[in-house]
Amino acid sequence: MPRIFNFSAGPAMLPAEVLARAGDEMLDWHGTGMSVMEMSHRGKEFIAIAAEAEQDLRDLLAVPENYKVLFLQGGATLQFAQVPMNLLGGKNKADYVLTGEWSKKAIKEAKAYCDVHVAASSEDRRFTYFPPQGAFNVRSDAAYLHYCSNETIGGVEAHWVPESPVPLVADASSHFLSRPLEVSKFGLLYAGAQKNVGPAGLAIVIVREDLLGRAQKGTPSVMDYKLQAETDSMLNTPATYAIYVAGLVFKWLKALGGVAEIERRNIAKAKRLYDFLDGSSFFANAVAREDRSRMNVPFTLKNPALDESFLKGAAERGMVQLKGHRSVGGMRASIYNAMPPEGVQRLVEYMAEFERAHG
Ligand SMILES: Cc1ncc(COP(=O)(O)O)c(C=O)c1O
Repeated sequence: MPRIFNFSAGPAMLPAEVLARAGDEMLDWHGTGMSVMEMSHRGKEFIAIAAEAEQDLRDLLAVPENYKVLFLQGGATLQFAQVPMNLLGGKNKADYVLTGEWSKKAIKEAKAYCDVHVAASSEDRRFTYFPPQGAFNVRSDAAYLHYCSNETIGGVEAHWVPESPVPLVADASSHFLSRPLEVSKFGLLYAGAQKNVGPAGLAIVIVREDLLGRAQKGTPSVMDYKLQAETDSMLNTPATYAIYVAGLVFKWLKALGGVAEIERRNIAKAKRLYDFLDGSSFFANAVAREDRSRMNVPFTLKNPALDESFLKGAAERGMVQLKGHRSVGGMRASIYNAMPPEGVQRLVEYMAEFERAHG
């Protein structure tokens, strides 16, 4: 059966080459006679797999020496709590940028740990833009400033990094590795794996070393960044298979030219879809042009009564998971790194056909 074009926001498509290689190595990894899934995380084989994955990720993003790369569990959602637990460092204040559903969730979680001040917000225009730097009002005594650099549901991406007087923390889950990133501008950034990195069950944290060792009393050991950093993310059994597949994805990305090349491809894919939307009087995207996400493209049909018919026709043409998030409705095409340009092309052709029939 041919591969389907899966526009899910995550878990999402993985590169076919990566899946094929994982398949080839499923029963016997490099002559060991076992699957990576069956290996001890303390054995030399898996330690080498994890170390290589970390090095490849460091190479891809040019992660500076004074940053630790952690492979953790609990998804990006656990980071909503783990960040305040580790970074407040005795302070009682943290600032947050409110730009949509994911930053809202991060704020809600942080409120259990500290006084949260919303330093900038786009709620006034229903989360359809990213606030300009001039709109930021960050408290100088806050422990950190948190923002979501790509709002997966709203389809709003910060295409620049905010200036902050306090350590900057980003939830980069849904555009991690889709473009170059200046790690040194951040105190910490994190991403759930199931979009551009690999299987669900893995979260990546990149944290500046001087922010380690501040966990509040009572923080569970597995949630203490310092303890995880000291044990190479193996304080307990890590998500071994997810780390292995992530490592294959990093190698795939390196081989095709790294994040600069994938950014070039992602710009072209997103442009194809947005150009179509802008030229259509039947489909619409509500996000400010300069803040549109290259990864998640929400759109609506002029007549929502046709939503189901649109989705049915898409599935018949080998395109699935185009339904928008339940909180906003409409449609959403997530076009992560592994979505081939042909998938976007097929979607645009189908949208044009649908518009001709119903517009
Ligand atoms: C931007 C963002 N943050 C956080 C999450 C939550 O991730 P997880 O389900 O891995 O906890 C998601 C999930 O889609 C997301 O898109």
